Amino acid sequence: MAKSLNIPIPLVIVAGARPNFMKVAPLMDVLSRDPDFAPILVHTGQHYDHNMSGQFFQDLGLPEAHYYLEAGSGSHAQQTAEVMKRIEPVLLEQNPAAILVVGDVNSTMAGALVAAKLGIKVIHIEAGLRSFDRTMPEEINRIVTDSVSDLFLVTEESGRVNLLREGIAPERIHFTGNLMIDSLRRNLEQALQSDIRGRLGIGHGRFGLVTMHRPANVDNDRQFAEILEALSVISSHIPLYWPMHPRILARTGKGAIPLSGQIHIVEPLGYFDFLCLQANSAMVLTDSGGIQEETTVLGVPCLTLRDNTERPATIEYGTNRLAGTRKETILEAWNQSLAHPRKGQIPPLWDGKATLRCHAALRKFLLCQSTVELQTQ
Ligand code: UD1
Repeated sequence: MAKSLNIPIPLVIVAGARPNFMKVAPLMDVLSRDPDFAPILVHTGQHYDHNMSGQFFQDLGLPEAHYYLEAGSGSHAQQTAEVMKRIEPVLLEQNPAAILVVGDVNSTMAGALVAAKLGIKVIHIEAGLRSFDRTMPEEINRIVTDSVSDLFLVTEESGRVNLLREGIAPERIHFTGNLMIDSLRRNLEQALQSDIRGRLGIGHGRFGLVTMHRPANVDNDRQFAEILEALSVISSHIPLYWPMHPRILARTGKGAIPLSGQIHIVEPLGYFDFLCLQANSAMVLTDSGGIQEETTVLGVPCLTLRDNTERPATIEYGTNRLAGTRKETILEAWNQSLAHPRKGQIPPLWDGKATLRCHAALRKFLLCQSTVELQTQ
């Protein structure tokens, strides 16, 4: 067991985009209460709208970031480069023992690359996930981040298997479970108090929930049209509510997408409101990664509007089905899910205790390392 050093270890934690915040929140909480660590929260500003960022900080009780880099939007190269340029002086100023990056967004890869080149240890949370589809920007981010990481905390068994196959030493991999699920379990009760159904006029009837933002789905006119046609058919059976990501709003302009009257477009929602809708929905249709995981734990059927997933545990154990992106494949998956509803089980270690296991792994890695460094000085 690693001993306390009485010198807090500076640790930079990077949060950039919406799906990062629910993974970072429980970690910030546990590290802030551990006298051996001095966590420094860096918000890259990849997501900056209130309903993509500030609302999540508020709902999740995240503290104000120590640094806000305001990297903003742009092409992948521009956005990644802005984060890299702006995070380097922070790392030089703070000289942390390690940088902690989560998930697979551009901010994750940018932070990891800069730290690795400065000789700062890189800890990747949600390491090892692979869709094996290099047309996805997130897959590139996952591969590059893992290639420069020193410690790998994985959410599901497939992550460990992928990393071992890529030659990572087993002792650097820890199967800790899923921090996003810790956040869900901590916040579900409060989220269920949300009055979002009333505000959207849903009432207590059955409804489906849609989210979509992947470039492959929304930037490609033909693919987008196929998905919309399938959604129109489904919406004639069940009303659909679609909190629309700014990526689609920016591209098409609100109201410009021809939609059936039973598809209701709403603004992006905060964490509590969205969790409340997910928990109460009859079906979720999504191309998100994290929502595949949340629906699995909530026991809500999920149709993933993609041909692959980097989160196979949601299919093996959970309620997720790959629906593809063509009208006929989506409708086939919809019919299958009605005919053969999947009850699903909770994947191993998605038990709300991932934070404790991540904390233990971080203590072991960083306190042992600091002890060695002090002894060799
Ligand atoms: C990013 C992540 C994706 C994640 C998603 C969650 C990468 C490569 N992608 O995709 O993995 O699932 O976040 O939402 O990192 N915009 C705003 N306001 C904001 C943020 C974005 O208007 O607060 C608009 C801008 O027009 C921007 C576009 O949305 O160009 C896309 O944002 P970006 O961060 O580049 O990628 P996402 O599609 O959000």
